[in-house]
Amino acid sequence: MSKNTILVTGSSGFIGFHLSNYLISKKFKIVGVDSLNSYYSVKIKKKRLSILKKKKNFSFNKLNLRNKKSLENIFIKYRPSVVIHLAGQPGVLYSFKNPKSYFINNVEATKVICDISKKYRIKKFIFGSSSSIYGDQKKYPIKENFKPNPKNPYAKTKLMSEKLVLKKFKNTNINFLIFRFFTVYGPFGRPDMFIHKFLNKIKTKESIKLHNHGLNYRDFTFVGDVVKIIHLSVIKKLSNKIFNICRSKPIVTNQLVKMIIKKFPNYMSKIINKGFVKGEMLKTHGSNKLLLKHIGRLSFTDIKVGINITIREFKKNNF
Ligand SMILES: NC(=O)c1ccc[n+]([C@@H]2O[C@H](COP(=O)([O-])OP(=O)(O)OC[C@H]3O[C@@H](n4cnc5c(N)ncnc54)[C@H](O)[C@@H]3O)[C@@H](O)[C@H]2O)c1
Repeated sequence: MSKNTILVTGSSGFIGFHLSNYLISKKFKIVGVDSLNSYYSVKIKKKRLSILKKKKNFSFNKLNLRNKKSLENIFIKYRPSVVIHLAGQPGVLYSFKNPKSYFINNVEATKVICDISKKYRIKKFIFGSSSSIYGDQKKYPIKENFKPNPKNPYAKTKLMSEKLVLKKFKNTNINFLIFRFFTVYGPFGRPDMFIHKFLNKIKTKESIKLHNHGLNYRDFTFVGDVVKIIHLSVIKKLSNKIFNICRSKPIVTNQLVKMIIKKFPNYMSKIINKGFVKGEMLKTHGSNKLLLKHIGRLSFTDIKVGINITIREFKKNNF
C-alpha cells in the first residue's frame, strides 16, 4: 500500500477538483476518478481536469464507479491508503425529475466503492454527504445528532449512502468519516447552484429568479475552508464519525444578491421573485462546534472575502 496515495472520486467535480489541487500541494499523490457526466457543463469539468493534469502527482481515470472491474484495477495499480468519495449526483430540484440517477450514482456507486475499499484494506474512507439530509428543523443551529428529515430524493439517497458507509465499515479496521457539507461555494463553482447561476445570468444579461422571494437562508461555506478541513481529517485521527462542515453563519439570499450586484454596477436585468419551491429547505444553519472540537481552531473565510475571490476568478476564467 502506498501511504501517500489518495484516491479521490469526483475529481473533476467542484469540490473534488479543489481538494485534489490542495492535497497535491501538501505532497500527496492523487488518483482521480470521474465519469465526467453531463449533469452540467462538461466543459467546466474538463477545464478543472486540465488544471490538475498539469501537476506531476496527479493521475486520472475516466470511469463510472459502477464499473467494478475497472475500479478494482485502479486499486491494484495504485494501492491507495485513503479514499475520499465525492462523486455523486447532486442537485435538489433535478432529483424530482430524475430520481433514478440519484439512486444509481449515489447509493449504488457508494456501495461499489465501499466494497472495493474494504477488499483492498485501505486505512481511511471519507464520504462527502450533505446538509440536505436534515431537511427543515425546529431548532438551529443544526447539530450532528439531530434527527434527519430528508425532503427530496437527493437528500434521501445521501442519507441511504451514509447508512451504507456506516454499515460497511463498522467493525473493520478502516477509519471512516462522514462529512455533511453545507452549501459549498468558490471559484469554478457548480453552474447549477445559486452563485454561479447568477454570475452566468449577469454575463448573458438575463434576469434571475429568486426562489421563496429571496428569503431562504443558506450557510455558505467557502471551498478553500472545506478542503483544509478534509486535509486535516486525512492527517489526524478523529474519534467521531459524522461532522457538519459549515461556517455556521447563514445569510439570506436577498443579502447575497446585493453583495454580488455591487460588483456588477452595469447589471440592469430584472430580479424575478418566485414563490416557494417544493422540496427546497427554507434554512440551512449548521453547528460546527463538534468539528472544531476535534479538528482544532480554524478560521472560516468571511462571505464577502469568499464572494470577491469567486467573482474575481469568474471574470478571469469565464467559469
Ligand atoms: N457543492 C455543495 O455545496 C455540496 C453540498 C453538500 C454535499 N455535496 C456533495 O459533495 C460531493 C461533491 O459535490 P460537488 O459540488 O463537487 O458536485 P459535482 O457534481 O461538481 O461533482 C461530482 C462529480 O462526480 C462525478 N460523478 C457522478 N457520478 C459518478 C459515477 N457514478 N462515477 C464516477 N463519477 C461520477 C461527476 O461527473 C462530477 O464531476 C457530492 O457527493 C455532493 O452530493 C456538495
